[in-house]
Amino acid sequence: MKDVMIFAHRGSKGTRPENTMAAFMEAEKSGADGIELDVHLTSDGVPVIIHDETLDRTTTSTGRVEKLTLADIKEVDAGVKFSGEYSGERIPTLKEFFDWIYNKNLLINVELKNDVVAYKELEEKVIRLIREYNLEQRTILSSFNHESIRKLKALAPDIERALLFENLPDDYERLLTEAKEAGFHPKAKGLTAEIVSAAKKQGYKVRPWIANKPEDMKRLAEYGVDVIMTDFPALAVATLRQ
Ligand code: G3P
Ligand code: MG
Repeated sequence: MKDVMIFAHRGSKGTRPENTMAAFMEAEKSGADGIELDVHLTSDGVPVIIHDETLDRTTTSTGRVEKLTLADIKEVDAGVKFSGEYSGERIPTLKEFFDWIYNKNLLINVELKNDVVAYKELEEKVIRLIREYNLEQRTILSSFNHESIRKLKALAPDIERALLFENLPDDYERLLTEAKEAGFHPKAKGLTAEIVSAAKKQGYKVRPWIANKPEDMKRLAEYGVDVIMTDFPALAVATLRQ
């Protein structure tokens, strides 16, 4: 159980405003092994860290990320809706995040949020930044858009990739066999020991999302998953490392 790694989902989403530097810093402090974050592209082509296609849910403004420039996006507050204590938190760019994390002992899972909007050259831009910061060995790229995963493989075969799944299709084993990727990121809800062992037999690293309750974290660890993604990394460390 102690071998399972802990990835902080959207930073420390349960205790800090998701996908902000405050959340990422808290994830590091909590002792997580890695950080998962979500990336979209601004209208002027800058990868920024936010979960939704719009600003509406998590910030003080509204509108679609793809229609807004980086300057527009930098105006909005991404912390105050979570709590007044975090007022002033901004939407980070991926570059700002890399600038903070590159000299830290943390793994990185960049989720490309291109399953709804087909952001032009999102893959190229993310890869360029990873190379700029020499993060090839510490970064896992994932997406629900498996076409994008194929594109990433062609563009940067040396950077690890993972297939994300919401509801697991019946033929998931065949999909894993055909894709021959390194990572399998299924939804934790509904995951069974059989599914974990089928994926591991194929050589996949299994990293379910998300487990927030100690009993769920322990159950997944017993299944033999490699990583548990959680909104509460400090709780996961306390639960799994004691
Ligand atoms: O990458 C795992 C997980 O983050 C996928 O779902 O909606 O939280 O980005 P979501
Ligand atoms: Mg995500």
